[in-house]
Amino acid sequence: MMTLLDKYKISNNFVLMINFTTIDEHELTALSRQPSNRIIVRMSPLKRNFQTIQRNLHTEAKIIGMVKANAYGHGIVPVSSLLSSLHIDYLGVFTMEEGVHLREHSIQTPILIFGSLLRHHMESLGRFSLVPVIGSMKELQIFLEEESLTWLPFHLKIDSGMGRIGFLCSELPQVLHYIQSKNAQDRIQGICTHYADASNPASNYTQWQTESFEHSLGELPSRIRQKSVIHTCNSAAFLRFPQYHYNAIRPGLIMYGICPFSKDQPNWHPVLSLTSYISVVRTLPKGSYISYNRTFQTTCPTTIAIIPIGYADGIPLSLSNRGWVLYRQTKCPIIGNVCMNQFTIDVSACKEVHLGDEVTLIGKEGCLEITAADVARWSNTIPYEILCNLSTALPRFIVKDTD
Ligand SMILES: Cc1ncc(COP(=O)(O)O)c(C=O)c1O
Repeated sequence: MMTLLDKYKISNNFVLMINFTTIDEHELTALSRQPSNRIIVRMSPLKRNFQTIQRNLHTEAKIIGMVKANAYGHGIVPVSSLLSSLHIDYLGVFTMEEGVHLREHSIQTPILIFGSLLRHHMESLGRFSLVPVIGSMKELQIFLEEESLTWLPFHLKIDSGMGRIGFLCSELPQVLHYIQSKNAQDRIQGICTHYADASNPASNYTQWQTESFEHSLGELPSRIRQKSVIHTCNSAAFLRFPQYHYNAIRPGLIMYGICPFSKDQPNWHPVLSLTSYISVVRTLPKGSYISYNRTFQTTCPTTIAIIPIGYADGIPLSLSNRGWVLYRQTKCPIIGNVCMNQFTIDVSACKEVHLGDEVTLIGKEGCLEITAADVARWSNTIPYEILCNLSTALPRFIVKDTD
């Protein structure tokens, strides 16, 4: 009989069952003539970004590619498959379900689980060889008490100043004592911490956190330190502090081609584009209100186009009267409030407007480009949120690597 837990697992896997279709550039050109909302994820820039990271490693450090949150909205399976084919050392996910999902899609790369560990996760950890990153005594106890998992390694997470999860330096003697009492010191595969403010070039908090982390490392026997994978760097810290690469790094954002700093660096190539199409065109007289709450009023006769994608798909309401889209190589403003399934743009500046034509919300059109970072800036958030919020219901087309 199906238990509640099985049902839960199925429903969770279902959430992760993201539609994707693999195509080539040729098919993409044909597709752009079909009116539809779609996410295009290109494998070539993903590969180039990964290779740039490899070239810039300070030491012989390993790479833990962060593919949590559906690979930042890009699609966890195709992204992980490409990274695995490039021999990435580890993949980092947050939930057990993400790890299981990858294994069920034949990903064999070592997987680290960064989210919290619960008793009912133990079976999946063992069955799918998923390595937990442990940052609390309770989780450590659950894990080390599990007699069927004595072969499975784990990573220790230190809180060096993020104030979220991880052991404080002062807790380490007790933690170590407990690990030794379980004869599990040889199962420590890695030791890590996470930076809170690495993308802020004006702050020296990352240096402070590293000192605090070093202090914590000093609490551990040198034998453990020497054989462990030590990792602290997210994308921003990787770029700013080569001296902190230790023997592994954990990039996310830069793999997807987005620079973590407000001043863009040209060496990162965006991987994801988002396009929609024109579903209605109308010309409204001067003085017409547009959309809910009448936040926009035309000041002259205005040709408007409706774009059938809205906040139900992940387009933030805060883009209302602030965002832009590309159409026929023209930057067209979003006018009025973004709705659940549609929003309005002003296309008065375009010479021709045709129903069904493609518009670009994120991506390039000719020499114009809108990046996820632009969208984030207009809507007063961060690119992570823009990308992660793109609905899993939007069809994703994966363009094969051609490099
Ligand atoms: C533990 C951990 N490491 C690394 C990363 C990657 O960060 P970024 O995308 O800024 O490179 C994240 C992302 O939030 C994270 O939670």
